[in-house]
Amino acid sequence: MASTSTVTTLTIFSFVFFIELTVSQQISTVDSECTGRWIHIRTLPSRFNRDLLSTCNHYPLTDDLCPYLANHGLGPKTHTRTRSWYRTDPLLLELIFHRRILEYPCLTPDPNLASAVYLPYYAGIDSLRYLYGSDVNSSADHGSDLLSFLTQDSPEIWSRRSGHDHFLVMARPAWDFSQPLTVDPPIWGTSFLERPEFFNLTALTLESRFWPWQEQAVPYPTSFHPHSLPFLESWIRRVRRSRRTSLMLFAGGGGTSSTPNIRRSIRLECTNVTETEPETLSEKIKTCDFVDCSNGICEHDPIRFMRPMLQSSFCLQPPGDTPTRKATFDGIIAGCIPVFFEDQTAKMQYGWHLPEEEFSEFSVTIAKEDVVFRGVRIADVLMSIPKEEVARMRERVIEMMPRVMYRRHGASMGLMNKKDAVDIAIDGVLQKISSRG
Ligand SMILES: *[C@@H]1O[C@H](CO)[C@@H](O)[C@H](O)[C@H]1NC(C)=O
Ligand SMILES: *[C@@H]1O[C@H](CO)[C@@H](O)[C@H](O)[C@H]1NC(C)=O
Ligand SMILES: *[C@@H]1O[C@H](CO)[C@@H](O)[C@H](O)[C@H]1NC(C)=O
Repeated sequence: MASTSTVTTLTIFSFVFFIELTVSQQISTVDSECTGRWIHIRTLPSRFNRDLLSTCNHYPLTDDLCPYLANHGLGPKTHTRTRSWYRTDPLLLELIFHRRILEYPCLTPDPNLASAVYLPYYAGIDSLRYLYGSDVNSSADHGSDLLSFLTQDSPEIWSRRSGHDHFLVMARPAWDFSQPLTVDPPIWGTSFLERPEFFNLTALTLESRFWPWQEQAVPYPTSFHPHSLPFLESWIRRVRRSRRTSLMLFAGGGGTSSTPNIRRSIRLECTNVTETEPETLSEKIKTCDFVDCSNGICEHDPIRFMRPMLQSSFCLQPPGDTPTRKATFDGIIAGCIPVFFEDQTAKMQYGWHLPEEEFSEFSVTIAKEDVVFRGVRIADVLMSIPKEEVARMRERVIEMMPRVMYRRHGASMGLMNKKDAVDIAIDGVLQKISSRG
Protein backbone atom coordinates (compact mmCIF):
# COMPACT_ATOMS: atom_id res chain seq x y z
CA MET A 1 0.00 0.00 0.00
CA ALA A 2 2.69 2.48 1.03
CA SER A 3 4.81 1.72 -2.01
CA THR A 4 1.85 2.14 -4.37
CA SER A 5 1.08 5.59 -3.09
CA THR A 6 4.74 6.60 -3.37
CA VAL A 7 4.77 5.63 -7.02
CA THR A 8 1.58 7.58 -7.57
CA THR A 9 2.91 10.70 -5.95
CA LEU A 10 6.08 10.48 -8.00
CA THR A 11 4.15 10.07 -11.22
CA ILE A 12 2.00 13.09 -10.56
CA PHE A 13 4.93 15.10 -9.38
CA SER A 14 6.98 14.46 -12.48
CA PHE A 15 4.01 15.27 -14.67
CA VAL A 16 3.39 18.60 -12.99
CA PHE A 17 7.06 19.39 -12.86
CA PHE A 18 7.44 18.86 -16.57
CA ILE A 19 4.53 21.08 -17.44
CA GLU A 20 5.85 23.97 -15.38
CA LEU A 21 9.31 23.57 -16.81
CA THR A 22 8.11 23.59 -20.38
CA VAL A 23 5.61 26.37 -20.12
CA SER A 24 8.23 28.68 -18.71
CA GLN A 25 10.50 28.02 -21.69
CA GLN A 26 7.96 28.34 -24.43
CA ILE A 27 9.35 27.59 -27.84
CA SER A 28 9.51 30.51 -30.21
CA THR A 29 9.50 29.94 -33.94
CA VAL A 30 9.78 32.17 -36.96
CA ASP A 31 6.73 34.38 -36.73
CA SER A 32 5.62 33.91 -40.33
CA GLU A 33 5.10 30.15 -39.91
CA CYS A 34 2.82 30.90 -37.00
CA THR A 35 0.71 33.64 -38.53
CA GLY A 36 -2.90 32.85 -37.71
CA ARG A 37 -1.81 29.79 -35.73
CA TRP A 38 -0.74 31.11 -32.34
CA ILE A 39 -2.23 29.31 -29.36
CA HIS A 40 -2.32 30.57 -25.81
CA ILE A 41 -2.52 28.00 -23.01
CA ARG A 42 -4.65 29.46 -20.26
CA THR A 43 -3.12 29.00 -16.81
CA LEU A 44 -5.82 27.44 -14.67
CA PRO A 45 -5.80 26.90 -10.91
CA SER A 46 -4.66 23.39 -10.01
CA ARG A 47 -8.16 22.28 -9.03
CA PHE A 48 -8.97 22.15 -12.75
CA ASN A 49 -6.20 19.73 -13.62
CA ARG A 50 -3.41 18.47 -11.39
CA ASP A 51 -5.51 18.20 -8.21
CA LEU A 52 -7.86 15.90 -10.13
CA LEU A 53 -4.93 13.52 -10.65
CA SER A 54 -4.00 13.36 -7.00
CA THR A 55 -7.28 11.56 -6.26
CA CYS A 56 -6.69 9.04 -9.05
CA ASN A 57 -7.41 6.04 -6.83
CA HIS A 58 -10.61 7.46 -5.34
CA TYR A 59 -12.84 7.75 -8.39
CA PRO A 60 -16.09 5.82 -8.19
CA LEU A 61 -16.91 2.98 -10.56
CA THR A 62 -13.67 3.10 -12.52
CA ASP A 63 -10.48 1.16 -12.07
CA ASP A 64 -7.75 2.78 -10.08
CA LEU A 65 -6.61 5.39 -12.60
CA CYS A 66 -3.22 5.97 -10.96
CA PRO A 67 -1.13 3.47 -12.95
CA TYR A 68 -2.41 4.94 -16.21
CA LEU A 69 -1.11 8.44 -15.41
CA ALA A 70 2.42 7.17 -16.06
CA ASN A 71 4.31 8.54 -19.06
CA HIS A 72 2.21 11.70 -19.18
CA GLY A 73 -1.03 9.81 -19.55
CA LEU A 74 0.12 7.17 -22.06
CA GLY A 75 0.09 4.63 -19.23
CA PRO A 76 2.62 1.95 -18.30
CA LYS A 77 4.66 0.41 -21.11
CA THR A 78 3.46 -2.96 -22.35
CA HIS A 79 7.03 -4.33 -22.10
CA THR A 80 10.04 -2.89 -20.36
CA ARG A 81 12.04 -2.44 -23.55
CA THR A 82 9.38 -0.82 -25.73
CA ARG A 83 9.28 2.92 -26.31
CA SER A 84 6.13 2.90 -28.41
CA TRP A 85 3.52 0.58 -26.85
CA TYR A 86 1.59 1.48 -23.70
CA ARG A 87 -1.44 0.36 -21.68
CA THR A 88 -3.32 3.53 -22.51
CA ASP A 89 -6.64 4.48 -20.95
CA PRO A 90 -8.60 6.59 -23.47
CA LEU A 91 -10.02 8.76 -20.67
CA LEU A 92 -6.54 10.16 -20.20
CA LEU A 93 -6.53 11.84 -23.61
CA GLU A 94 -6.96 15.03 -21.61
CA LEU A 95 -3.44 14.56 -20.19
CA ILE A 96 -1.97 13.22 -23.40
CA PHE A 97 -3.23 16.22 -25.34
CA HIS A 98 -2.04 18.64 -22.66
CA ARG A 99 1.45 17.16 -22.76
CA ARG A 100 1.56 17.19 -26.54
CA ILE A 101 0.34 20.76 -27.03
CA LEU A 102 3.37 21.90 -25.02
CA GLU A 103 5.41 20.84 -28.09
CA TYR A 104 3.28 22.89 -30.45
CA PRO A 105 5.65 25.35 -32.13
CA CYS A 106 3.36 28.41 -32.05
CA LEU A 107 2.57 28.89 -28.37
CA THR A 108 2.33 32.42 -27.07
CA PRO A 109 2.15 33.71 -23.50
CA ASP A 110 0.20 36.70 -24.79
CA PRO A 111 -3.50 35.91 -25.24
CA ASN A 112 -3.91 39.00 -27.41
CA LEU A 113 -1.69 37.45 -30.08
CA ALA A 114 -3.44 34.09 -30.02
CA SER A 115 -5.93 32.75 -32.56
CA ALA A 116 -7.04 30.11 -30.08
CA VAL A 117 -7.02 29.68 -26.31
CA TYR A 118 -6.58 26.15 -24.92
CA LEU A 119 -8.12 25.37 -21.52
CA PRO A 120 -6.11 22.60 -19.80
CA TYR A 121 -9.14 21.49 -17.81
CA TYR A 122 -9.49 17.70 -17.32
CA ALA A 123 -13.23 17.86 -17.83
CA GLY A 124 -13.82 14.13 -18.26
CA ILE A 125 -11.93 13.20 -15.11
CA ASP A 126 -13.75 15.93 -13.18
CA SER A 127 -17.08 14.63 -14.52
CA LEU A 128 -16.65 11.25 -12.78
CA ARG A 129 -17.97 12.64 -9.50
CA TYR A 130 -21.12 13.82 -11.27
CA LEU A 131 -21.57 10.72 -13.42
CA TYR A 132 -20.96 8.11 -10.75
CA GLY A 133 -20.16 9.84 -7.48
CA SER A 134 -21.46 12.00 -4.70
CA ASP A 135 -22.40 14.90 -7.00
CA VAL A 136 -24.77 12.84 -9.12
CA ASN A 137 -27.71 15.04 -8.11
CA SER A 138 -25.98 18.30 -8.96
CA SER A 139 -24.69 17.45 -12.41
CA ALA A 140 -26.14 20.68 -13.79
CA ASP A 141 -23.33 22.41 -11.87
CA HIS A 142 -20.56 20.88 -13.99
CA GLY A 143 -18.74 23.85 -15.46
CA SER A 144 -19.94 26.52 -12.99
CA ASP A 145 -16.57 26.74 -11.34
CA LEU A 146 -14.74 27.02 -14.67
CA LEU A 147 -17.16 29.66 -15.85
CA SER A 148 -16.70 31.78 -12.74
CA PHE A 149 -12.94 31.57 -13.18
CA LEU A 150 -13.14 32.62 -16.84
CA THR A 151 -15.49 35.50 -16.14
CA GLN A 152 -13.63 36.80 -13.07
CA ASP A 153 -9.92 36.24 -13.67
CA SER A 154 -8.79 38.45 -16.59
CA PRO A 155 -12.36 38.32 -17.95
CA GLU A 156 -11.36 40.09 -21.16
CA ILE A 157 -9.67 36.89 -22.44
CA TRP A 158 -12.92 34.94 -22.35
CA SER A 159 -15.14 37.81 -23.46
CA ARG A 160 -13.20 39.34 -26.33
CA ARG A 161 -14.61 36.78 -28.79
CA SER A 162 -17.55 35.58 -26.68
CA GLY A 163 -15.76 32.27 -26.04
CA HIS A 164 -15.51 31.43 -29.77
CA ASP A 165 -11.72 31.11 -29.63
CA HIS A 166 -11.59 28.78 -26.59
CA PHE A 167 -11.23 25.02 -26.77
CA LEU A 168 -10.72 22.04 -24.48
CA VAL A 169 -10.60 18.24 -24.57
CA MET A 170 -13.42 16.22 -22.98
CA ALA A 171 -12.29 12.61 -23.32
CA ARG A 172 -15.70 10.91 -23.24
CA PRO A 173 -18.71 10.74 -25.55
CA ALA A 174 -20.48 14.12 -25.72
CA TRP A 175 -23.65 12.37 -24.48
CA ASP A 176 -22.05 12.33 -21.05
CA PHE A 177 -22.12 16.14 -20.98
CA SER A 178 -25.46 16.80 -22.68
CA GLN A 179 -28.06 16.42 -19.95
CA PRO A 180 -30.70 19.16 -20.57
CA LEU A 181 -30.62 21.69 -17.73
CA THR A 182 -34.38 21.40 -17.29
CA VAL A 183 -34.34 17.67 -16.49
CA ASP A 184 -34.21 17.30 -12.72
CA PRO A 185 -33.18 14.90 -11.31
CA PRO A 186 -30.77 14.12 -14.14
CA ILE A 187 -31.23 10.93 -16.15
CA TRP A 188 -27.64 10.63 -17.33
CA GLY A 189 -24.72 12.97 -17.72
CA THR A 190 -23.68 16.45 -16.76
CA SER A 191 -24.98 19.60 -18.47
CA PHE A 192 -21.63 21.12 -19.42
CA LEU A 193 -22.39 21.28 -23.15
CA GLU A 194 -25.98 22.38 -22.52
CA ARG A 195 -25.01 25.56 -20.67
CA PRO A 196 -25.67 28.53 -22.98
CA GLU A 197 -22.51 30.21 -21.67
CA PHE A 198 -20.44 27.41 -23.25
CA PHE A 199 -22.28 27.25 -26.58
CA ASN A 200 -19.46 29.07 -28.37
CA LEU A 201 -16.45 27.07 -27.23
CA THR A 202 -15.08 24.01 -29.02
CA ALA A 203 -14.87 20.68 -27.20
CA LEU A 204 -12.85 17.77 -28.58
CA THR A 205 -14.73 14.63 -27.54
CA LEU A 206 -14.40 10.91 -28.29
CA GLU A 207 -17.89 10.85 -29.80
CA SER A 208 -20.23 13.62 -30.90
CA ARG A 209 -24.01 13.84 -30.69
CA PHE A 210 -26.27 13.38 -33.74
CA TRP A 211 -26.49 17.16 -34.16
CA PRO A 212 -23.23 18.40 -32.72
CA TRP A 213 -22.73 22.08 -32.16
CA GLN A 214 -19.72 22.74 -29.93
CA GLU A 215 -18.03 19.37 -30.15
CA GLN A 216 -15.88 17.58 -32.69
CA ALA A 217 -15.02 13.91 -32.28
CA VAL A 218 -11.34 12.92 -32.35
CA PRO A 219 -9.89 9.37 -32.45
CA TYR A 220 -9.74 7.29 -29.29
CA PRO A 221 -6.11 6.89 -28.24
CA THR A 222 -4.87 3.36 -28.88
CA SER A 223 -1.85 1.68 -27.27
CA PHE A 224 0.44 2.62 -30.15
CA HIS A 225 2.48 5.79 -29.58
CA PRO A 226 5.53 5.61 -31.83
CA HIS A 227 8.58 7.65 -30.90
CA SER A 228 10.46 7.75 -34.20
CA LEU A 229 9.89 7.56 -37.94
CA PRO A 230 12.00 4.39 -38.43
CA PHE A 231 9.91 2.69 -35.75
CA LEU A 232 6.66 3.70 -37.46
CA GLU A 233 8.01 2.56 -40.81
CA SER A 234 9.06 -0.83 -39.48
CA TRP A 235 5.62 -1.26 -37.91
CA ILE A 236 3.98 -0.45 -41.25
CA ARG A 237 6.18 -3.06 -42.96
CA ARG A 238 5.09 -5.61 -40.39
CA VAL A 239 1.43 -4.71 -40.92
CA ARG A 240 1.83 -5.06 -44.72
CA ARG A 241 3.62 -8.42 -44.47
CA SER A 242 1.34 -9.91 -41.85
CA ARG A 243 -0.40 -13.12 -42.96
CA ARG A 244 -4.14 -12.61 -42.70
CA THR A 245 -5.31 -16.06 -41.64
CA SER A 246 -8.90 -15.13 -40.91
CA LEU A 247 -11.44 -13.32 -43.02
CA MET A 248 -12.99 -11.33 -40.20
CA LEU A 249 -12.51 -10.67 -36.52
CA PHE A 250 -14.73 -9.46 -33.76
CA ALA A 251 -12.99 -8.33 -30.58
CA GLY A 252 -15.54 -7.20 -28.03
CA GLY A 253 -18.19 -8.17 -25.57
CA GLY A 254 -21.97 -8.16 -25.43
CA GLY A 255 -24.43 -9.92 -27.70
CA THR A 256 -25.22 -12.63 -25.17
CA SER A 257 -28.82 -11.64 -24.49
CA SER A 258 -31.66 -13.02 -26.56
CA THR A 259 -32.92 -9.67 -27.90
CA PRO A 260 -32.02 -9.26 -31.56
CA ASN A 261 -29.17 -6.81 -32.10
CA ILE A 262 -26.06 -6.60 -34.23
CA ARG A 263 -23.66 -7.89 -31.58
CA ARG A 264 -25.84 -10.93 -31.05
CA SER A 265 -25.97 -11.59 -34.81
CA ILE A 266 -22.18 -11.33 -35.01
CA ARG A 267 -21.74 -13.69 -32.10
CA LEU A 268 -24.12 -16.21 -33.64
CA GLU A 269 -22.53 -15.99 -37.06
CA CYS A 270 -19.00 -16.27 -35.68
CA THR A 271 -19.66 -19.22 -33.39
CA ASN A 272 -21.67 -20.95 -36.10
CA VAL A 273 -18.93 -20.79 -38.74
CA THR A 274 -16.12 -21.74 -36.43
CA GLU A 275 -18.01 -24.78 -35.25
CA THR A 276 -19.52 -26.06 -38.47
CA GLU A 277 -17.23 -25.09 -41.33
CA PRO A 278 -13.65 -24.71 -40.18
CA GLU A 279 -11.94 -26.32 -43.16
CA THR A 280 -14.29 -25.55 -46.03
CA LEU A 281 -12.10 -22.83 -47.50
CA SER A 282 -9.25 -24.14 -49.59
CA GLU A 283 -6.53 -21.88 -48.12
CA LYS A 284 -7.48 -22.82 -44.55
CA ILE A 285 -8.59 -19.29 -43.87
CA LYS A 286 -10.75 -19.12 -40.82
CA THR A 287 -14.00 -17.32 -41.62
CA CYS A 288 -14.37 -15.61 -38.27
CA ASP A 289 -12.12 -15.06 -35.30
CA PHE A 290 -13.72 -14.01 -32.05
CA VAL A 291 -11.83 -12.40 -29.16
CA ASP A 292 -14.10 -12.28 -26.15
CA CYS A 293 -13.49 -8.98 -24.34
CA SER A 294 -16.39 -9.31 -21.89
CA ASN A 295 -16.06 -7.68 -18.48
CA GLY A 296 -13.48 -5.19 -19.70
CA ILE A 297 -10.67 -7.75 -19.85
CA CYS A 298 -9.16 -6.22 -23.00
CA GLU A 299 -9.20 -2.65 -21.71
CA HIS A 300 -5.57 -2.23 -20.74
CA ASP A 301 -4.30 -5.33 -22.46
CA PRO A 302 -3.59 -4.61 -26.14
CA ILE A 303 -1.74 -7.91 -26.61
CA ARG A 304 -5.06 -9.76 -26.41
CA PHE A 305 -6.45 -8.15 -29.55
CA MET A 306 -3.59 -6.59 -31.56
CA ARG A 307 -2.18 -9.92 -32.72
CA PRO A 308 -5.55 -11.28 -33.89
CA MET A 309 -6.20 -7.95 -35.62
CA LEU A 310 -2.90 -8.28 -37.48
CA GLN A 311 -4.03 -11.72 -38.66
CA SER A 312 -7.44 -10.76 -39.93
CA SER A 313 -8.46 -9.00 -43.15
CA PHE A 314 -11.56 -7.33 -41.76
CA CYS A 315 -12.44 -6.11 -38.26
CA LEU A 316 -16.12 -5.89 -37.32
CA GLN A 317 -17.03 -2.64 -35.55
CA PRO A 318 -20.62 -2.93 -34.30
CA PRO A 319 -22.08 -0.21 -32.06
CA GLY A 320 -22.38 -1.03 -28.35
CA ASP A 321 -23.67 1.16 -25.51
CA THR A 322 -22.82 4.10 -27.77
CA PRO A 323 -22.18 4.08 -31.54
CA THR A 324 -18.39 4.58 -31.47
CA ARG A 325 -15.61 2.15 -30.50
CA LYS A 326 -11.96 2.44 -29.61
CA ALA A 327 -11.44 -0.83 -31.54
CA THR A 328 -12.02 1.05 -34.80
CA PHE A 329 -8.65 2.70 -34.24
CA ASP A 330 -6.90 -0.41 -32.87
CA GLY A 331 -7.93 -2.14 -36.09
CA ILE A 332 -6.60 0.67 -38.31
CA ILE A 333 -3.25 0.49 -36.48
CA ALA A 334 -3.20 -3.25 -37.34
CA GLY A 335 -4.12 -2.68 -41.00
CA CYS A 336 -7.42 -4.49 -40.45
CA ILE A 337 -10.15 -3.10 -42.73
CA PRO A 338 -13.05 -1.79 -40.60
CA VAL A 339 -16.58 -3.07 -41.22
CA PHE A 340 -19.20 -0.62 -39.95
CA PHE A 341 -22.88 -1.28 -39.36
CA GLU A 342 -24.05 2.33 -39.04
CA ASP A 343 -22.66 5.72 -40.11
CA GLN A 344 -22.67 7.00 -36.52
CA THR A 345 -19.78 4.69 -35.63
CA ALA A 346 -17.20 6.66 -37.60
CA LYS A 347 -18.34 8.30 -40.84
CA MET A 348 -20.42 10.98 -39.13
CA GLN A 349 -17.88 11.43 -36.33
CA TYR A 350 -14.28 11.81 -37.34
CA GLY A 351 -14.52 14.11 -40.37
CA TRP A 352 -11.24 15.84 -39.54
CA HIS A 353 -9.24 12.61 -39.27
CA LEU A 354 -11.04 10.15 -41.58
CA PRO A 355 -12.25 11.99 -44.69
CA GLU A 356 -15.95 11.27 -45.13
CA GLU A 357 -15.91 11.17 -48.93
CA GLU A 358 -13.20 8.46 -48.92
CA PHE A 359 -14.91 6.10 -46.51
CA SER A 360 -15.74 3.43 -49.05
CA GLU A 361 -12.06 3.26 -50.02
CA PHE A 362 -10.86 2.08 -46.61
CA SER A 363 -13.95 0.55 -44.99
CA VAL A 364 -17.04 -1.58 -45.65
CA THR A 365 -20.50 -0.64 -44.46
CA ILE A 366 -23.26 -3.23 -44.01
CA ALA A 367 -26.55 -1.90 -42.61
CA LYS A 368 -27.18 -3.55 -39.25
CA GLU A 369 -30.88 -4.06 -40.11
CA ASP A 370 -29.85 -6.23 -43.08
CA VAL A 371 -27.84 -8.48 -40.80
CA VAL A 372 -30.20 -8.59 -37.83
CA PHE A 373 -33.57 -8.80 -39.62
CA ARG A 374 -32.94 -9.70 -43.27
CA GLY A 375 -30.59 -12.66 -42.87
CA VAL A 376 -27.59 -11.10 -44.64
CA ARG A 377 -24.45 -13.01 -43.64
CA ILE A 378 -21.48 -10.70 -43.04
CA ALA A 379 -19.02 -13.34 -44.25
CA ASP A 380 -20.85 -13.62 -47.59
CA VAL A 381 -20.61 -9.88 -48.16
CA LEU A 382 -16.90 -9.80 -47.32
CA MET A 383 -16.04 -12.91 -49.34
CA SER A 384 -17.63 -11.34 -52.40
CA ILE A 385 -15.07 -8.51 -52.41
CA PRO A 386 -12.30 -9.32 -54.94
CA LYS A 387 -8.81 -9.95 -53.53
CA GLU A 388 -7.22 -7.00 -55.36
CA GLU A 389 -9.89 -4.73 -53.95
CA VAL A 390 -9.15 -6.00 -50.42
CA ALA A 391 -5.45 -5.29 -50.95
CA ARG A 392 -6.22 -1.77 -52.18
CA MET A 393 -8.42 -1.11 -49.17
CA ARG A 394 -5.73 -2.32 -46.79
CA GLU A 395 -3.25 0.13 -48.34
CA ARG A 396 -5.75 2.95 -47.77
CA VAL A 397 -6.16 1.83 -44.13
CA ILE A 398 -2.37 1.97 -43.73
CA GLU A 399 -2.39 5.50 -45.18
CA MET A 400 -4.90 6.51 -42.50
CA MET A 401 -2.78 5.07 -39.68
CA PRO A 402 -0.55 8.12 -38.98
CA ARG A 403 -3.60 10.40 -38.97
CA VAL A 404 -5.38 8.51 -36.17
CA MET A 405 -2.43 7.61 -33.95
CA TYR A 406 -1.14 9.75 -31.08
CA ARG A 407 2.63 9.78 -31.39
CA ARG A 408 4.63 9.86 -28.18
CA HIS A 409 5.65 13.22 -26.71
CA GLY A 410 9.28 14.04 -27.38
CA ALA A 411 9.26 12.07 -30.65
CA SER A 412 12.04 12.42 -33.20
CA MET A 413 11.99 15.25 -35.74
CA GLY A 414 11.24 12.90 -38.64
CA LEU A 415 8.07 11.67 -37.01
CA MET A 416 7.03 15.18 -36.02
CA ASN A 417 6.82 16.03 -39.72
CA LYS A 418 3.99 13.50 -40.15
CA LYS A 419 0.68 14.86 -38.95
CA ASP A 420 -0.82 12.75 -36.20
CA ALA A 421 -4.19 12.93 -34.44
CA VAL A 422 -3.15 15.89 -32.26
CA ASP A 423 -1.73 17.90 -35.19
CA ILE A 424 -4.89 17.31 -37.21
CA ALA A 425 -7.12 18.22 -34.26
CA ILE A 426 -5.23 21.50 -33.77
CA ASP A 427 -5.52 22.33 -37.49
CA GLY A 428 -9.24 21.61 -37.27
CA VAL A 429 -9.73 23.77 -34.19
CA LEU A 430 -7.88 26.72 -35.76
CA GLN A 431 -9.89 26.40 -38.93
CA LYS A 432 -13.19 26.11 -37.10
CA ILE A 433 -12.40 29.18 -35.02
CA SER A 434 -11.27 31.29 -37.96
CA SER A 435 -14.37 30.32 -39.95
CA ARG A 436 -16.45 31.93 -37.22
CA GLY A 437 -14.83 35.30 -38.10
C1 LIG B 1 -29.84 11.51 -5.59
O1 LIG B 1 -31.24 11.64 -5.61
C2 LIG B 1 -31.94 10.41 -5.53
C3 LIG B 1 -33.42 10.71 -5.73
O2 LIG B 1 -33.81 11.85 -5.04
C4 LIG B 1 -31.62 9.76 -4.20
O3 LIG B 1 -32.30 8.53 -4.09
C5 LIG B 1 -30.12 9.53 -4.11
O4 LIG B 1 -29.77 9.02 -2.84
C6 LIG B 1 -29.36 10.81 -4.34
N1 LIG B 1 -27.93 10.48 -4.43
C7 LIG B 1 -26.97 11.12 -3.77
C8 LIG B 1 -25.57 10.61 -3.96
O5 LIG B 1 -27.19 12.10 -3.08
C1 LIG C 1 -21.92 33.36 -28.69
O1 LIG C 1 -21.58 34.06 -29.86
C2 LIG C 1 -22.60 34.91 -30.38
C3 LIG C 1 -22.03 35.58 -31.61
O2 LIG C 1 -21.49 34.69 -32.50
C4 LIG C 1 -23.01 35.93 -29.37
O3 LIG C 1 -24.09 36.69 -29.88
C5 LIG C 1 -23.41 35.25 -28.08
O4 LIG C 1 -23.68 36.22 -27.10
C6 LIG C 1 -22.29 34.34 -27.60
N1 LIG C 1 -22.71 33.62 -26.42
C7 LIG C 1 -22.13 33.80 -25.24
C8 LIG C 1 -22.73 33.05 -24.11
O5 LIG C 1 -21.18 34.54 -25.08
C1 LIG D 1 -25.37 -21.67 -39.22
O1 LIG D 1 -24.82 -22.44 -40.26
C2 LIG D 1 -25.76 -23.19 -41.00
C3 LIG D 1 -25.01 -24.06 -42.01
O2 LIG D 1 -24.04 -23.30 -42.69
C4 LIG D 1 -26.76 -22.25 -41.70
O3 LIG D 1 -27.74 -22.99 -42.38
C5 LIG D 1 -27.42 -21.37 -40.63
O4 LIG D 1 -28.26 -20.41 -41.24
C6 LIG D 1 -26.38 -20.67 -39.79
N1 LIG D 1 -26.96 -19.91 -38.71
C7 LIG D 1 -26.63 -18.63 -38.45
C8 LIG D 1 -27.29 -18.01 -37.27
O5 LIG D 1 -25.82 -18.01 -39.11
